[in-house]
Amino acid sequence: MVAFTSLVKYLILQGQKTIILKRITRWFTVTLVLGLALASCGNRIEPLEDNWESAVPFQPIPQGLVSIRSADCGVCHQEIYQEWLKSTHAHAWTDLQFQSEIKKESSPYLCINCHIPLENQQEYLVTGLKNGDIYQPVKEKNPQFDAAMQQEGIGCATCHVRDGNIIGTQVTNNAPHPVRVDSSFLSEQLCITCHNANAVVTPELVCTFQTGEEWKAGPYAQTQTCITCHMDTLERAWMAGMPERLSHRHWFPGSGIPKRKGEQPVALEGLNFTPDTLPSTYSDADSIRYSITLTNAHAGHRLPTGDPERYYLIDLTWLNAANSDTLSHRRFRIGEVWEWYPVAKKISDNNLNPLESRTFSIALLPPAEGTYTLHAKVTKHRMTEETAAYHHLTGDYPTYITVFTGGQTVTVK
Ligand code: HEC
Ligand code: HEC
Ligand code: HEC
Ligand code: HEC
Ligand code: HEC
Repeated sequence: MVAFTSLVKYLILQGQKTIILKRITRWFTVTLVLGLALASCGNRIEPLEDNWESAVPFQPIPQGLVSIRSADCGVCHQEIYQEWLKSTHAHAWTDLQFQSEIKKESSPYLCINCHIPLENQQEYLVTGLKNGDIYQPVKEKNPQFDAAMQQEGIGCATCHVRDGNIIGTQVTNNAPHPVRVDSSFLSEQLCITCHNANAVVTPELVCTFQTGEEWKAGPYAQTQTCITCHMDTLERAWMAGMPERLSHRHWFPGSGIPKRKGEQPVALEGLNFTPDTLPSTYSDADSIRYSITLTNAHAGHRLPTGDPERYYLIDLTWLNAANSDTLSHRRFRIGEVWEWYPVAKKISDNNLNPLESRTFSIALLPPAEGTYTLHAKVTKHRMTEETAAYHHLTGDYPTYITVFTGGQTVTVK
């Protein structure tokens, strides 16, 4: 996600207000929310309606509560709060990459509407755009700004607080706050409002998440949702001292790539690894072939999904007996490739579809009798080292994790 400039024009109708936006460099549409397809660049003018281009309106404190900050919900919902603290959602604002990008002139104000979506979390309210320029929002100080809520990114209130109510899915008479049961609000549709932005490109940049569409097109659409896979269920009290009932983990586990050095996020593993088992001895081997098969066995969408900068590397290496010389090495990549300049466009995409398998092989022509060792390693990357350096993310910002290592030694007689 880099800098960008552009020429697109479109029109936003926000209630009665009409704002013409020009020079957009990166724009998104959430088609499921908008029912709109803003599919191409150029000088188009498109009407938009209520969406992430504006914040979720200011939310007042429901009766019976003292605040809607996550830490204050956590006074009663302790376990859920502790789980959420470990989630990527809790880093959506403080994330070092996000902070680096948001400070750049090239980032339009509207980035924040998916990362700190409530007006309560936004220091300024955008009332219009100077000369219709998305880079010159007319800002007013927000008198109801809550700095602590800004830090929490996607907090309890993002998903649970609307119009003086706590939105839930189960009937209860035990809550000290009003509860509105609304299972369609608190469904995968909520996830998809942020996890499916139809991309949109202008000259230099694109930002595209299609996790929602991938899930709908895949084999799990009828059986499992974002919530069934990403929010495990268990029986427990929602608050210490209350009776046990159906509950959901709030870790929102994903790729498992930590946001800060030393952190250990709860992760899901989408891939199955099926490595060959080679015979331990070969006599007069012409060539020794090793393969490993990766299957997207557990994810309800493609892998990687979401941010187009994610990718996997599969490294297969043959070493000599002393492990000192590399005799043969092959590297394979699963992910998208984009060209950003002069016009952002997708060059290739070999992401694994749900349930798809792919096999990677390496051959060794043993130079002589002796012992040889095969090393197999699969790593999952958030971004390249170059991109990390571009965002001045060093040291403290892990860019990848290792998800598989294997090895085998064979003797050629
Ligand atoms: C003073 C304690 C307390 C505070 C503070 C509190 N809750 Fe609750 N909440 C409860 C209790 C008790 C229940 C009901 C437990 C039961 O029925 O077993 C509940 C129920 C819920 C439910 C389930 C609704 C349903 O029926 O499906 C949600 C969601 C919820 N709270 C969210 C929040 C959020 C978000 C906050 C902060 C804005 C919050 N709560 C603050 C005590 C509290
Ligand atoms: C208000 C927007 C928003 C909503 C609603 C939302 N998310 Fe997210 N989600 C995000 C953002 C932004 C991130 C990334 C934060 C970061 O990387 O700093 C994220 C991260 C995640 C991740 C972690 C990805 C990783 O690689 O670690 C998972 C999993 C996830 N969300 C699942 C869900 C599910 C399931 C729901 C619905 C219950 C949901 N999200 C609702 C915006 C949202
Ligand atoms: C069938 C179970 C399943 C369903 C359904 C599912 N996911 Fe996932 N999801 C996974 C698994 C497993 C992973 C871990 C992938 C990995 O190995 O990194 C994952 C990873 C992710 C990630 C991290 C991105 C990455 O490349 O690792 C995000 C974000 C995410 N899911 C969001 C969603 C959203 C939003 C939905 C609903 C539209 C959804 N998921 C539906 C199982 C599921
Ligand atoms: C990204 C959205 C999201 C965020 C953030 C979130 N929740 Fe939830 N929460 C859900 C969903 C979805 C469910 C219900 C799933 C269902 O019933 O299918 C739920 C269920 C609950 C319940 C009912 C009991 C249970 O476990 O099912 C409570 C209580 C609750 N959440 C409290 C909280 C608190 C407290 C926070 C902040 C620390 C929080 N939630 C943050 C989406 C979220
Ligand atoms: C439509 C909602 C939406 C908007 C608008 C949005 N984001 Fe995000 N952002 C997300 C989601 C969802 C994720 C998590 C993607 C995933 O893990 O698959 C995310 C993740 C990120 C990440 C973490 C990437 C990673 O690999 O972990 C950064 C940085 C980021 N966004 C920056 C921005 C910037 C800068 C803008 C404005 C130009 C922006 N976002 C606008 C939804 C949004």
